[in-house]
Amino acid sequence: MNVKVNPYEVEGKIDYDKLIKEFGVNKITPEVLEEIENITGEIHPYLKRGIFFAYRDLKKVLEEYKKGNKFFLYTGCGPSGPIHLGHVSTWLFTKWLQEKFDVELWFQFTDDEKFLYKNMSYDEIQKWTHENMLDVIALGFDPKKTHFLVDTKHAGIMYPEAIKVAKKITFSSIKSAFGFTDSNNIGSIFYTAMQTVPVFLPNVLKNENKPCLIPLGIDQDVHFRLSRDVVEKLGHQKPAIIHSKFMIPLTGPEGKMSSSNPDSAIFLTDSHEEVKRKINKYAFSGGRDTAEEQRKYGGNVEIDVACQWLKYFEESDKKLEKIYEDYRKGKLLSGEVKKILIEKINLFLALHQKRRKTAEKLLPKFIYKS
Ligand code: TYM
Repeated sequence: MNVKVNPYEVEGKIDYDKLIKEFGVNKITPEVLEEIENITGEIHPYLKRGIFFAYRDLKKVLEEYKKGNKFFLYTGCGPSGPIHLGHVSTWLFTKWLQEKFDVELWFQFTDDEKFLYKNMSYDEIQKWTHENMLDVIALGFDPKKTHFLVDTKHAGIMYPEAIKVAKKITFSSIKSAFGFTDSNNIGSIFYTAMQTVPVFLPNVLKNENKPCLIPLGIDQDVHFRLSRDVVEKLGHQKPAIIHSKFMIPLTGPEGKMSSSNPDSAIFLTDSHEEVKRKINKYAFSGGRDTAEEQRKYGGNVEIDVACQWLKYFEESDKKLEKIYEDYRKGKLLSGEVKKILIEKINLFLALHQKRRKTAEKLLPKFIYKS
């Protein structure tokens, strides 16, 4: 199968080293980790474990930070369905960056994008925008330092900037970047301009010139590959980016967890029973056919979804390594690793779902008011 990695299609077995070359990004090296640790005093497990694995211009941003020049963070969500654990992994890391660097976060909800790309009504997309905002709030971002931008609601401040970006991107570059044909609607052709705006909008609003750092899943890189140069031509700084690998789907060792395939994903609104059922039923196993064979020959942690997902949920390196070692040696069976994972995820979801109940009240504090 052909490998495809763009915001609208992720397919095939992804070779991340190859992607680094193809996309022209840099690999996160131990030296970069050290630079981060010098500032933050610790290294997030997602960095240590190679989940966040690549960057653009990150060193520059860190250098400036050390001189006392803060950056702001920018990331986003395309609201067309429930939030799953894959989305959350990038946002939990974003939250860590916000706390450690003590910086502002601009969070874009691209209701326009999802309306244009999905076969869904405007009202349905608005419903998901609201629901997704509640989940983002429940993750615990600081309301004093986090600003939500909703494309259709903040069009008044975004559109004048979006047309400046759009004027400098040709149809032919959009076409080749996304594989568009004559049958794509004209809104989708314009959309990259909207996703570019928050890269510099805070500076326009506050008359500042701070650098921007974007944590994202690598599928989103395409938009910024198209627009980084444009941003500079408009007199702003190119954004720095830090890229995440994909959280794999429940059903297999390849590709990405996605809302369009509910069996592949755990949603933040799933009940404890649902989590248990999905993992037990669908989690792709790296184990042997029988418990007896597993005890004798051991299993493959690299393709076992429960083992791989524990990278996101088991904070202790020691415990994780022990689970891997036992699984490889056949001391742990697939069902037993699944049980550990189910407990970890349900613990996380219990807290999240409790916080989500009070998120509605906090919403006005998060929505940007000019
Ligand atoms: P969306 O809603 O598709 O995804 C939101 C964020 O989650 C990441 N993501 C994943 N990360 C790891 N594993 C997965 N399985 C997985 N699935 C999704 C995405 O890469 C993304 O970072 N157009 C965007 C919204 C957006 C945005 C941005 C994203 C607007 N501005 C700036 C990142 C940065 C979208 O539809 O994302």
